[in-house]
Amino acid sequence: MREWLEPEHVGRRREPVGTLRRAVPDDGFTCIDLDGDWEFQLRAHPEAAELTTWRTAQVPGCWTTEPSLWGEVADPPWYTNDQMPWPDLPPTPPTAHNPTGVYRRDVTVPADWAGQRVLLHVGAAESTLLVRVDGEPVGSSTDSHLAAEFDITPWAAPGATVQVELTVVKWSASTFVEDQDQWWHGGITRSVRLFTRPSLHLSDVRTVADADGRLSVDVRVGCDGGEGARRGYLPAGWRIDVRLGETALAFDAAAHQRDLDDERISLYRGRARFRGEFPGIATWTAENPVLHDVTVELRDADGTLVDSEVQRVGFRTVEVVGPDLLVNGRRIFVRGMNRHDRDPLTGRVVTTAQVREELLTLKRFGFNAVRTSHYPNDPTFYDLTDELGFYVVDEANIESHAWAHEICDDPAYLPAFTQRVARMVRRDRNHPSVIVWSLGNESDYGANHDAVAAWIRRDDPTRPVQYEGAIKDDWSAGFAASDIVCPMYAHLDQMVEHVTQHPPLRPVIQCEYSHAMGNSNGSLSDYWAAIESLPGLQGGFIWEFADHGILQREDDRLPAGRAGAGQFADGVPAAGFRWAHGGDFGDTPNDGAFCLDGVVLPDGTPKPAMYEHRELASPVRLSLEDGVLRVRNALDFSGLGHLRGQWVLESSDGTSLSAPADLPDLAAGCTAVVEVPAELAEAGAGERWLQLVVTQAEGTAWNPAGAEVSRPCVRLPDRARDVAEGTRSPVVVDATGALEFPGLARPELTLWRDPTDNDDIAGDGARWVAAGLRDAQPAVVAVEGSAVVSVLKTTAGEVRHTQALRWDERGLHCVDTVVLPDGLDDVPRVGVRVPLAGAAIGARWFGTGPWETYPDRCAAPVGWHELPVADLAVPYVRPQENGARTHVRELAVTTTAGVLRFSFDQPVTVTVHADAVVVDVAHRGLGSASCGPNALPPYRITTGTHTWSWSVEHEDRTDAPS
Ligand code: GAL
Ligand code: MG
Repeated sequence: MREWLEPEHVGRRREPVGTLRRAVPDDGFTCIDLDGDWEFQLRAHPEAAELTTWRTAQVPGCWTTEPSLWGEVADPPWYTNDQMPWPDLPPTPPTAHNPTGVYRRDVTVPADWAGQRVLLHVGAAESTLLVRVDGEPVGSSTDSHLAAEFDITPWAAPGATVQVELTVVKWSASTFVEDQDQWWHGGITRSVRLFTRPSLHLSDVRTVADADGRLSVDVRVGCDGGEGARRGYLPAGWRIDVRLGETALAFDAAAHQRDLDDERISLYRGRARFRGEFPGIATWTAENPVLHDVTVELRDADGTLVDSEVQRVGFRTVEVVGPDLLVNGRRIFVRGMNRHDRDPLTGRVVTTAQVREELLTLKRFGFNAVRTSHYPNDPTFYDLTDELGFYVVDEANIESHAWAHEICDDPAYLPAFTQRVARMVRRDRNHPSVIVWSLGNESDYGANHDAVAAWIRRDDPTRPVQYEGAIKDDWSAGFAASDIVCPMYAHLDQMVEHVTQHPPLRPVIQCEYSHAMGNSNGSLSDYWAAIESLPGLQGGFIWEFADHGILQREDDRLPAGRAGAGQFADGVPAAGFRWAHGGDFGDTPNDGAFCLDGVVLPDGTPKPAMYEHRELASPVRLSLEDGVLRVRNALDFSGLGHLRGQWVLESSDGTSLSAPADLPDLAAGCTAVVEVPAELAEAGAGERWLQLVVTQAEGTAWNPAGAEVSRPCVRLPDRARDVAEGTRSPVVVDATGALEFPGLARPELTLWRDPTDNDDIAGDGARWVAAGLRDAQPAVVAVEGSAVVSVLKTTAGEVRHTQALRWDERGLHCVDTVVLPDGLDDVPRVGVRVPLAGAAIGARWFGTGPWETYPDRCAAPVGWHELPVADLAVPYVRPQENGARTHVRELAVTTTAGVLRFSFDQPVTVTVHADAVVVDVAHRGLGSASCGPNALPPYRITTGTHTWSWSVEHEDRTDAPS
């Protein structure tokens, strides 16, 4: 059999999937951990002969990231987005070069498992798994992200030592439905175990617990030989007991009778239903994820415990009612993130500890939902989301992107669709965190989708179903396969129009939005302003959590693999290493840097977009309207008792004061008027901002007590600043425009920024280069007294920059006027570059911060911030524009040649580099055009006259480094 060539082949002799997890090493008696070293060889294709050398591979592990495993076949990571990596047509994968890893090891089956079944568990293998025991084929499996279990008792009797051989064929017919946008890897990516089960055992437990406290527990008993197998229900005297905590649940005799009446069901699997009502019991939400234990016990006629299981339930109800997705009857906001399993060293292998860290990071930054893009995660992931509180869209491992149109209607692939969906549902159904099933990603929309949607609706009617493909061409269609309008990268206008022009029929929750490639995520605040104000819009999932850079050795261009541990910090690889993207391993064809599109860098360091989200998701909101200050609880369920507040007043004259804040004990969604503490209300001068520093009252899994949660702020009315008396006098510049001023050289016009990924992909970067913005240098054309006129030549005409200089009480004062000719619209910036005489070391400013901000990503608090200059930049993997701070009024830059104090007469965007400060009166937004909308019109720069003014004074440093 050449299983890997057949689309209909989904697996052979796989055990049925249920919610029970039995292959978990515990006391060592019922499960043996087979992780660790296995003999390994990588062959050129599945039918290649055995090689002479056996190497040692770690399981779980990808061979693609460990070059020491390669030998004569080299198989590094390969990145493609939607295209398949090779030209072969479905369903046939390449035959000559199809890297195939053969893993083998001896296993001794404990003798005391006698009389019981022996099972092998393979957590995940990419992409087709063939299992042999002592050379005999015992089974096979597909779906690179779900476990396969095999009964190997006939080949591996208790007491025997046998050789287990796992062959992993990288390219198979099923590869065509695993065409996700990520690196291609090969290997065994989750744990391998051997375990045993009694022949009469609990085989599945299905719980349904709703917000009204109703609990039903369906217990299935597997009868794989021995007494009971013939009839399929319990032998005389055997019993099942089910408890919630200590309270026994009642046996549902009516349901049982129906089963007994139906021979087919009872012969197939014994099952029993139990019910209980627990009105008033604590419910589960992402904000307050209360879990309860359900214990199931199977006892024989003597009362001896034969098998038992503890499952956690969360009482909660999910439903779509009209345009609302309701949890426990309430409309929630979905502050979601798309997350892949990936690691810069191990490729696709992630540990539970690591996943937990990632989830804690998401919690810290205000996320409450995860879409498991684009496949089911390890079972422990859902334990964590249950515990920590996340709404999960659980997605089946189906993406046929390159052949989407063909495969979704191909009955040959229907078994793959049904198995992938049904096995996910059967495995994950008891998790309260799973609130929606997703049929997969980017596979167009066809009959196979409707088939699997129907299967879910019947098998688990307690959750909505979503599938982007079903609504992608028409938000009013696709009801059979999607209860949610879950588009990707929809424009804000389209969302607003959809819910305002007609009564919306389904909730709009984007399955992907705000593409995080490079310096991105512009307009998140605009999306959220709409979402929080328009019924029908409920949120979305940012694309995506992490950059998929793989650590690569620079000398030989090989993946660093596990040996690269510790060779990076704060997002930056150590000397001799770099973050690789598509093509860096010689992988051709590839999609380059498009895999670097996360809100955290490859090592998990959060990018500034994360902080933006933290502020937009703030549980506490502050507003000031007509002099009335209000606090709002923006949570969906909880009060504010778990939070503390502190007022901070900061103003551009240098004032910084704080006072305790009493957070009103507001119910979710409610607002209260609060008073600005008197000592702050009238304090400070110039531009004044009031911040509410929200902290954690008590520690949580993700934040210690006292940790900052968010910092909402409002602008208070300005108060006049004392202006020192002084004289005004012209500045002397020479005929070339050169300026005598300590610490800096004369500022020059700049319209250029190094294109972001968004700029490049949208073609804006090329447009700016073509217009001459990168290469043209401003030339002084006139010096008129203290005014310097210069001109920058662009293809759209000359840009005229007039700079009027004078001395005044604040030092050197500069009025810049720039006229952009018609035709030169939508430039990246209008500003001046101020060359510094000494190297900049530190910056202190009054503006947004402390993290990097841009005009369409600046929810950061306004106030005084201070950072070393090195920390102002962001190490985006592909170098690009970075490091700006918006709304800056005051800036002190400490350099090796003294301190420069800038004062801006209007808010400007400032970027401090080691050798220059760039001051922009206008800076284009970031947008998210690498896979979504470009910067919205308000964040584009228009032609015409731009004027701004500012002053700077210089102080010799008294503490200058020697
Ligand atoms: C979507 C897709 C994702 C990813 C993203 C772009 O089209 O579902 O898997 O490709 O765009 O980064
Ligand atoms: Mg895709």
